Parts: sequence; C-alpha cells; structure tokens
Amino acid sequence: MNWDQLDWSALDRLRDLFLRGTPAPGPYWRSESDLANYDFTYGERIGWKWDAVLRGLDPSEWRCRKGAVVDWGCGSGIAGRRVVDWLGGDAVTELNLVDHSALAVQYAASAAMARWPGLKVRTGPVPPDEPIALLVISHVLNELDGAGRSEMRRMIGQADTVFWVEPGTHGASRDLGAIRDELLDRFEIVAPCPHREPCGVNRPGNEGHWCHFFARPPGGIFAESGWVRFAQRAGIDLRSLPYCYLMLTRSPRERPQEDGRDRQEIRILGLPRKYKGFAKVFGCQTSGVGNLVLQKRDARDLFKRLDELSGRSLLARVEGDRLKEVLVVGAPARSEGAGSETF
Ligand SMILES: C[S@@+](CC[C@H](N)C(=O)[O-])C[C@H]1O[C@@H](n2cnc3c(N)ncnc32)[C@H](O)[C@@H]1O
Repeated sequence: MNWDQLDWSALDRLRDLFLRGTPAPGPYWRSESDLANYDFTYGERIGWKWDAVLRGLDPSEWRCRKGAVVDWGCGSGIAGRRVVDWLGGDAVTELNLVDHSALAVQYAASAAMARWPGLKVRTGPVPPDEPIALLVISHVLNELDGAGRSEMRRMIGQADTVFWVEPGTHGASRDLGAIRDELLDRFEIVAPCPHREPCGVNRPGNEGHWCHFFARPPGGIFAESGWVRFAQRAGIDLRSLPYCYLMLTRSPRERPQEDGRDRQEIRILGLPRKYKGFAKVFGCQTSGVGNLVLQKRDARDLFKRLDELSGRSLLARVEGDRLKEVLVVGAPARSEGAGSETF
C-alpha cells in the first residue's frame, strides 16, 4: 500500500462510521483492501497513540508473564502488533486475534505472521476460562452493543493484564472511567491513575471534565506530502492525537507515592494552559482532580516545555493549588528514553 493507492471511497465510508460512534449493526469491513487502507492511515494514527502509552511503561516488567496476548476487536491488528513489538516478539508465546469480522481477523493474522514468522498466531474466540496473559483492547468501546460489552467483560474476567486505549473524547473517556471503577476491586491500576481510589473525574461536579491525553505523531510526517494530503482530505488535524487509556493488572505493583520531601504523584490530564508567568494544569492525584498552578519562577526549564507535559506524571509538593519542587517522572510522550527530571 502507498499513498497513490488509497481508496478514498472506502476511507470516507469508514470515517463516517467511526464519526457516528454508535454500535454498527454488524461487521463493516467489506474487503481486505478496506483493512489495508485503514491500517495505512487511521490505523497508523492509532499506532502512534499506542506508542505514546507504551513508552511510559517498562517492557521488562511485563516479559515474565507467559501466555497469550489477545487483541480483542483487532480490526487490522495494529494495536496487537504494537504491543508485541514493544514486548519483543520472543517474549510472546502466542498472539490471539479476535473480531466479529472474519475479514479483519484474517488480515490481522496475515500481517502478524508476515512480521513474526515463528510466532504462534491464533484466530477466533477465546474459550471460557482459558487464561489470557495480556488483553489488548483498542478503539472498540463505542461500537459495542449490550452483547458486545458482555463479551468484552468476559474477556477482561479471564485476563491477568489489560492494556486498553480509546479515543480521547469526552464520551469514550468517561465510559472507560466508569468501567475502571467497576474493576477496582479485581485489578491494580498501573496507569494512568496515580492512585487506586474511585476516579476523581466521575465525582459530582466534574461532569464537564474527562481524563485524556495528547500523543505526538512522529515529527517527520508534517513534511510527508502523503500524510498532509490525507489529513486535508480526511479533515484531520495531524498534530492532535487525543486518547484515553487504562492499564490494569492483577499482580501487585509498587507505585511511587510520596517521597521524603512530601511530594506526591500527579498525572497531568489534557494540555497545560500557559499564561504570563504561570501555567495551569488539570491534575489527577489521590485527593481528586482539579486545576493546579505552576509558577514560572518555580520551574523555569519545565515552563519552556509545557507542551510536552500532556500525560506525564509529576512528583510535586502541593501547597494550596500551587505545585512546588516539581519532578517529572516516566518517559515523555515522544522523545527517546525514560527517566526523571527535576525542575
Ligand atoms: C475502530 S475498529 C478498531 C480496530 C483496532 N482495534 C484498532 O485499534 O485499530 C473496531 C473494531 O472492533 C470490531 N468489533 C466491533 N464490535 C465487536 C464485537 N462485538 N466483537 C468483536 N469485535 C467487534 C470491529 O469489527 C472493528 O474491527
């Protein structure tokens, strides 16, 4: 597939379906070509969101979990491939691709086998009570009717770990947040929440808010005429990649809590807003969600790079609504390497 081969009638039809955001009456992939077109464009953009999410996690912590990776609602299989890539093909014993579209499953299976010829690739439903090491769910939630949701819940019930990415819309994010709260008693929340309390965004008074982040696409695409033409034609802002996500596991995990300086973990939601001499961030912490203020004089270097903060975790001392002694933890949404930086 290349930019000159794009089938715009297929892409337009798919875009209209996705924008509708309601359960489709049934499978909507009509041909292998539909899936190839999706994979090359909309699917690749979803891959960039997965890149941003996975960059914040350390694959070595997950490698020991042997067993099947299941990509449920796999479509062209882009999410499952991103996760297997991230884990390292050798670390995965089996990739199971599930979708109510047989065409999608076939496409995703061929793509996975072409990429990892030695990998055991299975297709079709996961039998009840068969354990799932890692369940991947991506951009499926708003397509599910009651039966689809029951099936998805059954999959989650069989999973040791769930990696889940959805669009960063108000509706999808609040839906995901409600499901998160239902699962609190069975799973550890690895990310994005810096706590295991009920979701602060779901508290009364916060109805206008939603937990979402912005991924950055690879820098080079703005100079690629194919992407630029695609974005114009599809009516997409290439710079804006909003997403929400949830990483859950049944295995107990350590999380950085307060340090010796009374700093606590805060996850930055949405985008920081910059004013003269200060910025406001909407942060999530154990006590709930709310606006926090970062004074330029308290973190001059950080202030210059505020646009890199979406989705990052901070360790900070909170005085009233003011952030002090800020330490950015984890890996950035785009650049290379993990670590932490003090400001
Ligand atoms: C927007 S596509 C996303 C595909 C892929 N997960 C991705 O992130 O690119 C949604 C996928 O969910 C599948 N799907 C929708 N309802 C489903 C259901 N009840 N059971 C299984 N798959 C379903 C669709 O066939 C489609 O492939």
